[in-house]
Amino acid sequence: MNPVRVGICGLGTVGSGTVNVLTRNAQEISARAGTGIIIEQIGARRDNPACDTSGFNVTRDIFEVVRNPNVDVVVELIGGTTVAKELVEEALANGKHVVTANKALIAHYGNELFARAKEAGVTIAFEAAVAGGIPIIKALREGLAANKIKWLAGIINGTGNFILTEMRDKGRDFDDVLKEAQALGYAEADPTFDVEGIDAAHKLVILASLAFGMPLQFDKVFTEGISRIEPVDVAYAGELGYRIKHLGIARRTNGGVELRVHPTLIPEKRLLANVDGVMNAVVVKGDAVGPTLYYGPGAGAEPTASAVVADIVDIARELGTGQAVCVPPLGFNEAQEWPVLPMDEVETAYYLRISALDQPGVLSKIAQILSDAGISIEALIQKEAPEEQVHVPMILLTNRTIEKKVMNAVTAIESLGYVLGEVVHIRVETLS
Ligand code: HSE
Repeated sequence: MNPVRVGICGLGTVGSGTVNVLTRNAQEISARAGTGIIIEQIGARRDNPACDTSGFNVTRDIFEVVRNPNVDVVVELIGGTTVAKELVEEALANGKHVVTANKALIAHYGNELFARAKEAGVTIAFEAAVAGGIPIIKALREGLAANKIKWLAGIINGTGNFILTEMRDKGRDFDDVLKEAQALGYAEADPTFDVEGIDAAHKLVILASLAFGMPLQFDKVFTEGISRIEPVDVAYAGELGYRIKHLGIARRTNGGVELRVHPTLIPEKRLLANVDGVMNAVVVKGDAVGPTLYYGPGAGAEPTASAVVADIVDIARELGTGQAVCVPPLGFNEAQEWPVLPMDEVETAYYLRISALDQPGVLSKIAQILSDAGISIEALIQKEAPEEQVHVPMILLTNRTIEKKVMNAVTAIESLGYVLGEVVHIRVETLS
């Protein structure tokens, strides 16, 4: 078989990692693919000192790559959803297979791009779009094909996890850690995507569609970031035997599918609670297999390149057998429309931190509001007022209850004259 000819668009962190891995491991990669894989052309607006392109055909016009008749597979690594979309559409129209690491593109436009790829009889592969180097898409699409997936929960943003870990372990401040993550190449071009949960929401919607066979519905994901997490809550969570992680959660319930990204207290003994730094991990619970855990680096040049190259190898194998595309992009041949459960109706437990005047009857009034709402208190810490302060922190863990009830109770507590400011509320999951 003739070698498979790849055109790489974009030479940023992942693009340069991909060139380096394809070059360094060429022998193993072609032995696995059953054919040689050659970089036919690289399209990049500028060079990247992280990789040596001196032996390659480099163009400054990335569209030249998708129009190049000698390119079989276009690898889109420019990011964003405008030029990247045009590029991928043109590649598909030209009958090229596409590999992309672009989660925003898939989350927003995956449904239409998959339909176009199907029409053109080509593959669109996106393993690198979720959880960097972890082969979670292959696991959901192929390895777990026997299962009804009940739920999945993951740490799917390396930057956010790196920040929370450093805050907990070293007491560093948020901005300082974010700058380091940017310097290390983990963060998105716009870091608010990392800290406000948008990047995790892009990835969650892809995982949920793979798990449940439903169309991608990015606009239905409930998203809350980590920028309001305070060190004091990290410490109280620890006292209660929990860690705060930024999770993406998708769960099938009778009322619909939950799609939510938010900071979450999880018991410290869970494996997921011990996933630190830039590492990602996803727990998937299938009805046949039970809980399974996938762990690895969620960002960075070569971990992400590892997933990009795996997709190229898959396509090379398909080309080698002359078979039409046999694994559908979302794993299911037919998508099913599942309703998405509104956040108000989601059931979860809560961590509440209330700052209240230290006087008789306050705790009982707060307990009464919760009890009237049918919310039970599972654990309680009340500290003495710090010197020269008249407000005391009260920390409560509730039972699992409907979000709307907790939110109403929080509003009622905040309106009490002796409660200071907002009630900090963070969801709690046991993941069992
Ligand atoms: N900014 C992303 C992260 C990179 O921190 O996880 C990988 O998608």
